[in-house]
Amino acid sequence: MVKELLAYIRPHRKMLVLGGLLGLIGSAAGLAMPLLAKYVVDAFGQNGSMATPLLWLTVAVLVGAVVSATGSYLMERTGEGIVLGARRKLVDRLLRLRVADVDRLKPGDLLSRVTGDTTLLRAVLTNGVVESVSAAFMLVGAIVMMAIMDGVLLLVTLLVLVLIGGLVSLIMPKIQRAQTHAQEAVGEMGAVLDRALQAYRTVKASGAEEREIAEVAEAAGRARDRGVQVAAWTSLAGTATFMAVQIAFLCVLAVGGARVASGTLEVSSLIAFLLYLFYLVPPIGQLVQGGVQLQQGLAAMKRINEIESLPAEPATPVGAVAGVEPVGVTFEDVVFRYGDDRPIVHAGVSFEVPPGGLTALVGPSGAGKSTVFGLLERFYDHQGGTITIGGRDIRDWPLGELRAALGYVEQDAPVLAGTLRENLLFAAQDATEDELRRAIVRTRLDDLVERLPEGLETAVGHRGVLLSGGERQRVAIARALLRRPRLLLLDEATSQLDAVNELRLREVIAEVAEETTVLVIAHRLSTVTNADRIVVMEAGGVRAVGTHGSLVGDDDLYRELAATQFLVS
Ligand SMILES: Nc1ncnc2c1ncn2[C@@H]1O[C@H](COP(=O)(O)OP(=O)(O)OP(=O)(O)O)[C@@H](O)[C@H]1O
Ligand SMILES: [Mg+2]
Repeated sequence: MVKELLAYIRPHRKMLVLGGLLGLIGSAAGLAMPLLAKYVVDAFGQNGSMATPLLWLTVAVLVGAVVSATGSYLMERTGEGIVLGARRKLVDRLLRLRVADVDRLKPGDLLSRVTGDTTLLRAVLTNGVVESVSAAFMLVGAIVMMAIMDGVLLLVTLLVLVLIGGLVSLIMPKIQRAQTHAQEAVGEMGAVLDRALQAYRTVKASGAEEREIAEVAEAAGRARDRGVQVAAWTSLAGTATFMAVQIAFLCVLAVGGARVASGTLEVSSLIAFLLYLFYLVPPIGQLVQGGVQLQQGLAAMKRINEIESLPAEPATPVGAVAGVEPVGVTFEDVVFRYGDDRPIVHAGVSFEVPPGGLTALVGPSGAGKSTVFGLLERFYDHQGGTITIGGRDIRDWPLGELRAALGYVEQDAPVLAGTLRENLLFAAQDATEDELRRAIVRTRLDDLVERLPEGLETAVGHRGVLLSGGERQRVAIARALLRRPRLLLLDEATSQLDAVNELRLREVIAEVAEETTVLVIAHRLSTVTNADRIVVMEAGGVRAVGTHGSLVGDDDLYRELAATQFLVS
């Protein structure tokens, strides 16, 4: 663990050493000051020339100040560099995780790991390390001097210090545990707050403000309690060190006194030894402080590592070329569940979609329709059977190329923050202005763009809240179209459109289906009656495949679905 922590330092070690050295030189210059002042006074007394000593004093003051400031600036800078490195690494992993793993994580908690836990690394990795190293030098120096004074007394001192040191090292893991819990509580607070903010309107409409506030406050309280625990253990460790030195002092006094009485030790040696004993106090205190910081850093790293140890998807090559011809899709006996402890969602799903044309997936809620899309995008891996796209097993496609071939409109059509243009070009950064314009016209967004004060540059708000539901959906469709997909996946693409726009979009989809393969999931059968084929799913299987005409005749479930939607009398 400590090794991994030090790995963060490695790229910055030169700067750290330099910063530490400058700090030392600064202190040395500070130490020289009284001596130089003495020369000035001496020169004054002897009526000699004060110019030289004064000059030296001035130089020492200036150099000391500049060197100290540079040293501490370098340290802080390195600290920021370490935090930056940790954040970059963590975010890089965070956005490459597998969807299945992210499903289990809480966004608010993840956020606190990127913002809070990485910050904790700073103190331990800069000041903590440097001060501990210089403290260790001081400690060794003092001990060497004490050894020169008297070996027996040193033995007595070390015995006491080792005993107390053992006690302190027992306390350290407790500090780490309490700090971990404190950070967890902060993460939990983030998660609860994130939940409330994501569903802000629902919270208000449900009158749940008080409850949500209480829950956030509770998590904050837990963080406080754990923080207090850290403080308690820390001060216990501090007290133990203080006691250690006092006890060592008494022991040395007793043993040394006896040895002075018996004539084996000189009084002057005893006094010198006792003075050195007090020289030990600051470095020991710094070491304990460094130990505490180390525990906090380790606690933070544990939480960072939890994310970094999750498997990542293979890196997506930028600009993977995937061809342009439409691709077909086959599902053959596909078995899938979201987790080992989850119910089976697909229990042998089989259907075939030839390249080009419009295919619809219909069926009751929970039948596993959206799951089909999740598997095609390889957000999840199926456990049994075979899925092919363009005649190639989905597992053999390089992930980047596969996704580049697909256009995907999610069921709840999310729009990201930013401008309308950014949202439209999100999946196709290299689309031309012309293509953009065409996609806007196709999805009937042109009226909206004209109406908006800043047109395409208008900000859409967090998750597109400044747009209507239908507008959000059309933005999502335009975005998917701009990707020029070989297979377009539309999940409930028309559910929020009014009758006029729905009709238009039906035309657009039919038009697109002439160029590429379109797979659309729809609850409103009216939108798919003109599909080339309709796959009826029910309870994790495919029940029937056919056209609207044939299914109304052959399939009870489809006839029932159609009847409730007034498509047949
Ligand atoms: N990320 C997930 N983790 C665990 N289970 C899930 C997940 N997503 C869906 N499920 C479960 O899988 C089953 C099928 O869900 P799916 O979203 O495919 O249904 P659907 O046919 O699209 O339904 P709807 O018409 O309501 O959108 C449901 O029982 C659901 O609870
Ligand atoms: Mg669905």
